[in-house]
Amino acid sequence: MENYQIAVIPGDGIGKEVMPEGVKVLEAAAQASASFKCQYTYFPWGCEYYLSRGSMMEKDALKILEKFDAIYFGAVGFPSVPDSVSLRGMRLAICQGFDQYANIRPAVLLPGIQSPLAGKGPEAIDFIVIRENTEGEYCGVGGRAHRGLPIEVAVQSGVFSRVGIERVIRFAFQLAQKRRGCLVSATKSNALEHAFELWDEVFAQVGLEFPDVNAEQVLVDALAARFVLRPESLDVVVASNLFADILTDLGAALAGSLGMAPTANLNPERMYPSMFEPIHGSAPDIYGRQIANPVGMIWSGALMMDFLGQHEVSKHIVAAIRMLTGRGQPLTPDIGGSGRTFEVGNAVAQIVRESFA
Ligand code: NAI
Ligand code: MG
Repeated sequence: MENYQIAVIPGDGIGKEVMPEGVKVLEAAAQASASFKCQYTYFPWGCEYYLSRGSMMEKDALKILEKFDAIYFGAVGFPSVPDSVSLRGMRLAICQGFDQYANIRPAVLLPGIQSPLAGKGPEAIDFIVIRENTEGEYCGVGGRAHRGLPIEVAVQSGVFSRVGIERVIRFAFQLAQKRRGCLVSATKSNALEHAFELWDEVFAQVGLEFPDVNAEQVLVDALAARFVLRPESLDVVVASNLFADILTDLGAALAGSLGMAPTANLNPERMYPSMFEPIHGSAPDIYGRQIANPVGMIWSGALMMDFLGQHEVSKHIVAAIRMLTGRGQPLTPDIGGSGRTFEVGNAVAQIVRESFA
């Protein structure tokens, strides 16, 4: 039986509320399937850790995390610490440090969930955005000069390498090949001509290797409109760090709630552990009330199981989520229910157990 070492980082805010539900469902799946075991090691890193210790994680955090099979991550950020400190000190440090260059972000409207788009049902909203996750606009290159003076300037550079672009685009083509065979690349080469002309060239070159995929290059602003007007035309989308970050909050909203969208930060070559987390943040506005939707966290656990090779287990978890939303309760208030966070976790865990029985 496979035995996986999982590093668990609940983080801040509702990360601490949804993480127990994610682990609960994984444990239900482990027991019911009898096909794997997980050993969880918890790390108390985050904004509270920063306020008492001066850093978001332990100094040698990446060395510590390196030996795990996967990282299960809640959310990071709290009003007590500047977001730039918390994000760069943790999530970006892990994604970039472990070269998790392919960030997978499904936008799927589940049965029973109402999209804010009138007349669009589950058949219309079922696509995956692949976000470049290690460079681009979030590389952190730049600086500020003349701080506080009227002549103050800030420079924030984007870094786009041929290698970095090519590997994420190839990953996206391979995924499109396994799905409905349509890939859209989102750029802005009319205004950001240096970075995105390179991106477009690489997209065209890699596309030659995949004649069976219908490849389209679209400007990101037009694509934002298309997300809303014709989501059914989307299968796989690939975009830079910033563009895909924005597009995927839109995708999650179209699929009913930011609280339900999962993500996988993959190092496809498996040189380093990959990281699995809901796309939402720490939601300080609802923290502490047990009303956070744990579905994004639970679904991210399914993505983790899939990447670890437990494909059947992953399918059972996703099917359990679909059964719950289709049935309609308990659901959390963000999707119109009155259920509490732990009740949703209990319900999904129960359905998972029954599905293996
Ligand atoms: P957010 O995603 O935390 O919240 C945005 C809105 O969605 C809020 O109204 C929140 O209540 C709602 N929401 C989010 N998750 C939900 C859930 N599971 N169930 C129900 N409602 C949910 O984004 P926001 O407010 O911009 O950022 C809050 C903090 O989170 C900041 O410190 C930010 O830097 C951090 N953040 C961290 C991320 C990460 O760890 N990967 C990603 C995004 C933001
Ligand atoms: Mg985001």
